[in-house]
Amino acid sequence: MGYEFDTSSWGHACIVGLQWGDEGKGKIVDLLTEQYDLVVRYSGGANAGHTVRIGQEKFALHLVPSGILRPNVVAVISTGVVIDPEVLVTEINTLRGRGVHIERNLCISDRAHVVMPYHKMQDSLSESAASGAEKIGTTARGIGPCYADKMYRSMAIRVGDLYKPEIFRQKLSGIVQKKNILLKALYGCDTPIDAEAIYAQYSDLAEQLRPFVCDATALVNDGIEAGKRVLFEGAQGTLLDIDHGTFPFVTSSTASACGYAAGAGVSPRTVKTILGVIKAYTTRVGGGPFPTELADATGQYIRDKGHEYGTTTGRPRRCGWFDAVAVRYAAALAGADELAIMLLDVLSEFDELAICTAYRRGGERLEHFPAHAHVLA
Ligand code: IMP
Repeated sequence: MGYEFDTSSWGHACIVGLQWGDEGKGKIVDLLTEQYDLVVRYSGGANAGHTVRIGQEKFALHLVPSGILRPNVVAVISTGVVIDPEVLVTEINTLRGRGVHIERNLCISDRAHVVMPYHKMQDSLSESAASGAEKIGTTARGIGPCYADKMYRSMAIRVGDLYKPEIFRQKLSGIVQKKNILLKALYGCDTPIDAEAIYAQYSDLAEQLRPFVCDATALVNDGIEAGKRVLFEGAQGTLLDIDHGTFPFVTSSTASACGYAAGAGVSPRTVKTILGVIKAYTTRVGGGPFPTELADATGQYIRDKGHEYGTTTGRPRRCGWFDAVAVRYAAALAGADELAIMLLDVLSEFDELAICTAYRRGGERLEHFPAHAHVLA
């Protein structure tokens, strides 16, 4: 592609988006992977999207890390990721169908949590039930409900559970009983979920994933010990982080660089270099405040020129000028050593660009990113 990075002094690195996602991280990861041995996805799930090109064909990956296209790279889906087995099996089969050999270089953590059909139902139903301004505008991939069950513990299913048939069946039956009560009480659902049907479907999917399931934590730590180079790949962006983003208009994981150690199960001292990825303008998908948003022809121009439509949902992304207050906040949170600025070419036709350097609220000038979404709004 004509770009070259010399990462020889970088050590292990983390790549993270410093806006509301879709900064073009995948492209940078693709460029860097040939210099790394392991690429580790540490958070999020099938809500993410990355377009890859094989030959003339382009297609979207949601769960499989970008490094998969390089035969010498091991792509790891670590513990912090929530896995929708249906999506993952489809991606694996798509890659196989395109002649990509993944049998020896994909690893799925047995500790990762599983997105179940009722998570996707809960996600869609709770969004439909929310009124206008309360809608988060999720991707409906079941991400929030799955992470909620992980935190709640007693209703969670991890990848490793899928391979203990009796325990899985029993656990699922108990969970589904509770989910049926919940879905009827909250959303009036009259058709109960069928635990046996899910058991059959997920047992079949688990068999297809079996060759890839491993102790990913041990694999990554052994790799580090053996001198292999590791690239941690963030999903979404820092401003969508559950703790540090524009709560509640965020995703349900630690999408910032803060999440790499917990998500992958490595020491927080592991990474030497953090690369923040930004776009030369700003986009956001779904609800939530966006101070530099352009709800006009300029915004539409950026959307069209930058192909700003969601990889996962196809939704048009909201577009606006570069917000330096937000990026300063995110870069500080990440401790970014390097910045990659993407999509500058989208702005090449403009004679003048606007850049937000501070916010004004009433008569007050705000130079720091506010903690509360209503202040930002
Ligand atoms: P969820 O992650 O599906 O729960 O969605 C929560 C919020 O994060 C919504 O505003 C989504 O549009 C946003 N979101 C989730 N994944 C992505 C992504 O990969 N890019 C941009 N926004 C995302």
